[in-house]
Amino acid sequence: MKGFLLFLLLILRTGVCTLQTKKVRKDEVVALKCGEKGKGSDKILWKNETSQMYLHNMSPAEQEQRNLVLDGHFLVILWASVNHQGNYSCGLSNFSSRSWFKLTVFEGNTGEHPRTCHEEEHCKLTCPPMSVPPNMSSTDPTWEKPDGKREQLPEIHFQSVKMEDGGVYTCFRSYPYYGQMYNRTCRVKLVVKPKEQKKYAKITEPREKEVFYVDIGSPKVIHCKAAVDLKFDDLFWLSNQSFVETNGSHPVFYNTTWENGDKMTASLVFKRVSENDLTKTYTCKLQSAGQDSSSVNITLSLKARPSYVSLAICSVCVVLAVVVSAVVYAKFKVDVTLFMRDTVGCHRRASDGKSYDIFLMSYKSETEVGINSHDRKMLESVLEDRFGYSLCLFDRDVLPGESIAEAVLDCVERSRTVVLVPTSPDPSLESGLLSALHAAYVERQTRLVFITTERTGALSTGSIPEALQLLSEAGDHVTWKGRGSEMPSSAFWKHLRYHLPAPHHPPKSKISLKTISL
Ligand SMILES: *[C@@H]1O[C@H](CO)[C@@H](O)[C@H](O)[C@H]1NC(C)=O
Ligand SMILES: *[C@@H]1O[C@H](CO)[C@@H](O)[C@H](O)[C@H]1NC(C)=O
Ligand SMILES: *[C@@H]1O[C@H](CO)[C@@H](O)[C@H](O)[C@H]1NC(C)=O
Ligand SMILES: *[C@@H]1O[C@H](CO)[C@@H](O)[C@H](O)[C@H]1NC(C)=O
Ligand SMILES: *[C@@H]1O[C@H](CO)[C@@H](O)[C@H](O)[C@H]1NC(C)=O
Ligand SMILES: *[C@@H]1O[C@H](CO)[C@@H](O)[C@H](O)[C@H]1NC(C)=O
Ligand SMILES: *[C@@H]1O[C@H](CO)[C@@H](O)[C@H](O)[C@H]1NC(C)=O
Ligand SMILES: *[C@@H]1O[C@H](CO)[C@@H](O)[C@H](O)[C@H]1NC(C)=O
Ligand SMILES: *[C@@H]1O[C@H](CO)[C@@H](O)[C@H](O)[C@H]1NC(C)=O
Repeated sequence: MKGFLLFLLLILRTGVCTLQTKKVRKDEVVALKCGEKGKGSDKILWKNETSQMYLHNMSPAEQEQRNLVLDGHFLVILWASVNHQGNYSCGLSNFSSRSWFKLTVFEGNTGEHPRTCHEEEHCKLTCPPMSVPPNMSSTDPTWEKPDGKREQLPEIHFQSVKMEDGGVYTCFRSYPYYGQMYNRTCRVKLVVKPKEQKKYAKITEPREKEVFYVDIGSPKVIHCKAAVDLKFDDLFWLSNQSFVETNGSHPVFYNTTWENGDKMTASLVFKRVSENDLTKTYTCKLQSAGQDSSSVNITLSLKARPSYVSLAICSVCVVLAVVVSAVVYAKFKVDVTLFMRDTVGCHRRASDGKSYDIFLMSYKSETEVGINSHDRKMLESVLEDRFGYSLCLFDRDVLPGESIAEAVLDCVERSRTVVLVPTSPDPSLESGLLSALHAAYVERQTRLVFITTERTGALSTGSIPEALQLLSEAGDHVTWKGRGSEMPSSAFWKHLRYHLPAPHHPPKSKISLKTISL
C-alpha cells in the first residue's frame, strides 16, 4: 500500500503519461527506444509490466534465448510473438521517471500507410528505417511493387506519376544481428488523383452579393452566367442552401441553357415573387470537375417606391379636392361669375357689330298671369340704369311705319340677347314671328333668356304655342318671384345677369344714350 502510494506520487510528480504504441508483425523485429537521458554511467532499467519482471537483470544467454537485445537505450525484440504483446516501461536506475510502451503484435498485415499523389506530378514513397542500436543499422530496403517486381531502392521516386502507378507497395528492411537478418515490412498504398484542371470555369454574372429589386406578386427572372468546361461542369441554384427545383410547375425553379458549348446560363424563375422569397439567400453555384466549386450569393429586395398607403391617401386627397371644387363652383357659380365680371373685369370687349345688349320681348301664354306693366318698367330701368345694359325696346327703339314682324326681327338682329318676358297686355306674338325668332336664334346664335313666373315654373307643354315651346327648350330660364325679386341684390337678378352677357358699355354712358334716344 505504501509502495503503491509512492508509485502514484512518483507518477503524479513526474507527470508521466507518455505512452508509445508500437505495432509489429509476428516474426518481425521491433526496437523500443527509451527516451530518458541518463548521465553517462547511468543504466537504463526495463520492466515487463505484464510479468512485473525487470529485464535488464537477465543474463546475455537468457536474453538470447528470449530473442531480446538490451543495448544502451534500446530493447530489441528480434522475433516478435503474440506472447510479447503487453506493456513495458523504462527509466533511469532509481525510476524517478519512466517511459511507457504498449506493444501489439499482428498475425497478418499491419495495415497500409496511405499516400496520395496527383497525376503527372512528382511523387515519392519512403520507408523510414526504425531506430536501432548503431551496429544493427539497416541497409537499403527492398521494394515490392504492385506488379510483383522487387527492387532494392532507398525510396521510390516518380517524376510524373500516372494513374496506373497506384497500388500497394511493400518495403522490406533487414536489420543484421550476429549474422542473422531480422526483417521488418511496411506497406504503403499509393492513391493517384486525376490531374488538376486549369482554373478556367467561372461565374461571370451576377456579381457577389448583388441585390435584385422586385415587386411582390410580379414575375422575376435572374440569369446566372458562367464560362464552363464542357463535359463535367454543372451550374445550379440554391435557395437558403437547399436545391431549387428544376420542374417548371413549381413557383420557383431554374432551367439551364448552353451557348457555343462553353457558356452556360442557369435562369432562376419566380412566377410570382412572394414575401417569403425576400428572406432567402440565393446562391448560384458552379461545380467544375477537378477544381473547387465557386458560388455567388444574391438577395431580393423590394423596389424603392412611395408606399401604397401614401399613394392611396394622395389619390383620395386629389379626388376630394376636385369634388369640393366642383361642389363649390356648382353652388356659387353665379356669384363667382358675377364677381369676376364686376371686379376683375372679365368683359367681352370684342366688337360684334350689335348695337344692343338685350331685346326685351313680351310673350303671352294662355295660362300665364305674367309680369304686370309696373314690374316690367322696373325691369327695364334696373337693366339700363343699374347694370348698364343697352336695351332695344319695341315701343321705343323701333321706327314707326315698319311692320311689327320686321321691327321685331330687326331688334333681334341688333341685340346680343333676347329676353322673353311674360306680360299679359302686350301685343301677343304670332307663331310666325316665333318661328322667325327661333331661326334667328339658331342661325345667329343669339342668346335666349326666358323669364317665367312662379306659378308656371317651366313652360309646360300645351300652355304655349309649339314654336314658343321650341324656343323655351333652347333658352335659359330665370324665375320671377314677384316682390322678392324686385331688389337688384335678389336671386332673380343674380341669375338673370348670370345668363346675360356683360354689358358692352359702362353704366354712365348708357344714360346719355337713353337720353339721346328719348
Ligand atoms: C513479458 O511477460 C509476459 C508474461 O509473462 C511474457 O509472455 C513476455 O514474453 C514477456 N516479454 C518479454 C519481452 O520478455
Ligand atoms: C497496458 O497499459 C494500458 C494502459 O496504459 C492498459 O489499459 C492495458 O490493459 C495494459 N496492458 C497489459 C497487457 O497490461
Ligand atoms: C534519480 O537519479 C537521478 C540521476 O541519477 C537523480 O537526478 C534523481 O534525483 C534521482 N531521483 C530520486 C527520486 O532519487
Ligand atoms: C553491438 O554492440 C553491443 C554493445 O554496444 C554489443 O554488446 C553487441 O555484441 C554488438 N553486436 C554486434 C552484432 O556487433
Ligand atoms: C529476412 O529476409 C531475408 C530475405 O529477404 C531472409 O533470407 C531471412 O531469412 C529473413 N529473416 C527472417 C528472420 O525471417
Ligand atoms: C413536375 O411537378 C408536377 C407536380 O408538382 C408533376 O406532376 C410532374 O410530373 C413533375 N414533372 C417532372 C418532370 O418531374
Ligand atoms: C426556362 O423557363 C422560362 C420560364 O418558364 C421559359 O420562358 C424558358 O423558355 C425556359 N428555358 C428553357 C431552356 O427551358
Ligand atoms: C433563410 O435563411 C435566413 C438566414 O440565413 C433566414 O433568416 C430566413 O428566414 C430563411 N428563409 C427561409 C424561408 O427559410
Ligand atoms: C453564401 O451564403 C452562405 C450562407 O447563406 C455562406 O455560407 C457562403 O459562404 C456564402 N458564399 C459566399 C461566396 O459568400
